[in-house]
Amino acid sequence: MLRGVVIGVVAVIVVVGGVLFAQRLEPAVRQPIQFNHAKHIAQGLECAACHQYVKEQTFAGLPTVETCMMCHSAPQTKSPEEEKVRQFAEKGQGIPWQRLYRMPGHVFFSHRRHVSVAKVECQTCHGAMAQATTPPSRPLVNQSMSWCLACHEKRQASVDCVACHK
Ligand code: HEC
Ligand code: HEC
Ligand code: HEC
Ligand code: HEC
Ligand code: HEC
Repeated sequence: MLRGVVIGVVAVIVVVGGVLFAQRLEPAVRQPIQFNHAKHIAQGLECAACHQYVKEQTFAGLPTVETCMMCHSAPQTKSPEEEKVRQFAEKGQGIPWQRLYRMPGHVFFSHRRHVSVAKVECQTCHGAMAQATTPPSRPLVNQSMSWCLACHEKRQASVDCVACHK
């Protein structure tokens, strides 16, 4: 009896420890520029000004240096982070933004379907990105399969394996 309890407790510790350890091994995302979403949303910019494919395509897209340079060809602030925008532009390089959210290759996802057809808010799937003052190093929302399914059940969207797995 006691032995069973001890083995049970040890098993729980091993599993919980393993999960926490695996999460820590997932590398933190570091962005090339300390971009501030909140300041830019306060300028009246729409999400699609920078994530330009989000309404029409499967993917949303990350901003090109040309998009940033529309306002930053001349300095707006004394921030050295802002200066980096002009340095990337001078080198003729794109800004190497890192992806925060990425589905495994076997999953199909479409922004158009969710944003334009189903009218789901960005915040429902991405959390408080509009209020972020620094780039998040980890996803604000854990987009697991059970998370997708919970909304599909609620909204009576497809729960067929082949709807999401091609
Ligand atoms: C429509 C114009 C506009 C566009 C497009 C734009 N910015 Fe800005 N940005 C501003 C303005 C205005 C400020 C100053 C805001 C303030 O100080 O409140 C600013 C400030 C900044 C700063 C300094 C932020 C800080 O924390 O003080 C950085 C860095 C920056 N922008 C990067 C970018 C990058 C990278 C892009 C492209 C992805 C971009 N901006 C696109 C207008 C723009
Ligand atoms: C001025 C340009 C600009 C605007 C406007 C903007 N973003 Fe972004 N967004 C960026 C940049 C640059 C990054 C990458 C750096 C970061 O994470 O801050 C990014 C990253 C993201 C990501 C993470 C993407 C990934 O790699 O998986 C999400 C989600 C996002 N933005 C949502 C939004 C939403 C929602 C809005 C509107 C409320 C918005 N953004 C408006 C420039 C912008
Ligand atoms: C129903 C959930 C959902 C909604 C609503 C949603 N997204 Fe996403 N977003 C995702 C998923 C899932 C991914 C990862 C897609 C992949 O890897 O194929 C993603 C990825 C992204 C990315 C990474 C870059 C790229 O090219 O895809 C950006 C940027 C982004 N979303 C911005 C937005 C913005 C802005 C909105 C609102 C206009 C929005 N998303 C609405 C679920 C959503
Ligand atoms: C907040 C709610 C919500 C979330 C979260 C969500 N979806 Fe959806 N999804 C919908 C709705 C509503 C539809 C039906 C849209 C329509 O009417 O065409 C849909 C449709 C779809 C379709 C098209 C299905 C078909 O019948 O062909 C796919 C594929 C899909 N979603 C994948 C995903 C994946 C993958 C995730 C998780 C990464 C996800 N969805 C998360 C609400 C959601
Ligand atoms: C609404 C979309 C959706 C539907 C429907 C769906 N899945 Fe998934 N599935 C996902 C997403 C998203 C992931 C990736 C989750 C992650 O990386 O955390 C996934 C991951 C998986 C994986 C890999 C598991 C892993 O841990 O990596 C398997 C296997 C799987 N799904 C099987 C199925 C089967 C079988 C069905 C039908 C009974 C199904 N899925 C229905 C969205 C869906």
